[in-house]
Amino acid sequence: MTQTAEYVLGTGRDESVRLGLQHRLWSWAAHRLWERAGVRPGLSVLDAGCGPGHAAMDLAQIVGPSGRVIGLDESASFLKELGDEAKARRLTNVHRVLGDVQSLEDALPDERGTIDLAYMRWVLCFVPRPEDVIRGLAALVRPGGRVAIQDYFNYEFSIKLAPRRPAFERVVEAVAASWRRRGGDPDIVGRLPGMLLDHGFEVRSLEVVQRVARSPAAFAESGGADSMWHWPDTFFRTFTPKLVAQGELSQQECDEALAVWGEASADPASFVLMPSVFEVVAVRR
Ligand SMILES: C[S@@+](CC[C@H](N)C(=O)[O-])C[C@H]1O[C@@H](n2cnc3c(N)ncnc32)[C@H](O)[C@@H]1O
Repeated sequence: MTQTAEYVLGTGRDESVRLGLQHRLWSWAAHRLWERAGVRPGLSVLDAGCGPGHAAMDLAQIVGPSGRVIGLDESASFLKELGDEAKARRLTNVHRVLGDVQSLEDALPDERGTIDLAYMRWVLCFVPRPEDVIRGLAALVRPGGRVAIQDYFNYEFSIKLAPRRPAFERVVEAVAASWRRRGGDPDIVGRLPGMLLDHGFEVRSLEVVQRVARSPAAFAESGGADSMWHWPDTFFRTFTPKLVAQGELSQQECDEALAVWGEASADPASFVLMPSVFEVVAVRR
């Protein structure tokens, strides 16, 4: 397998570690969504844009040996991680495919109408042609089969650091600009129900998860912790310097923002309103 392209957040070790943490913190929401979508043993599942495959491996355990999971991604290095980890866990029902989610029919020519459940989490917001993704899903998912999608709407306006700090808001603005400049859309879920309806799906549920994360300093006396804080913490610490390299932020803005983030982490009164994560389940007619 050869590397084809790299998505905006990168595919290096830092991003892989961040995706692992992100999955742990959000796996409860994923499981609840999969239940809503009817996941069970024996199903054929596609995880499109699976990354290193944390969700794909959970799904492989749920569908069991009588089912199978296809993990598709454009990153050969993420797929290698998935292969190594699936082997270590003796999961024999995980299949890996290197491909573009915007050309699913080309990537999976033998899977027309075979997929019972297609899952996508935090992928559609990065692709320039989301409608082609939905068209491909419509071809692969069997009639009566489902898609379950978790992604963003209102991204840059839903994230807020409290008390408000302009240097942080500048970074959030730059994150959204960087995705848009590469053809992504941090508002993608706003267009999703329409695209699903246009391509033969019925939208069964549309919900939102809104979380708050409190700073570690808030727990200095009680000895507790809010593990959700590590999600924005790893994201902003790893991605803010990349925004300088991408020309979205100056080095000074980056330094100010990381200093402000450090202050917030040490402030027992600080919390972050996390980006709203929307969840869609749709059925193929
Ligand atoms: C934020 S990560 C999410 C990974 C995984 N879905 C999860 O929730 O842990 C986005 C993933 O989408 C993949 N990706 C982005 N654009 C893609 C495309 N056009 N085709 C296939 N994969 C793509 C990236 O390589 C990356 O693995």
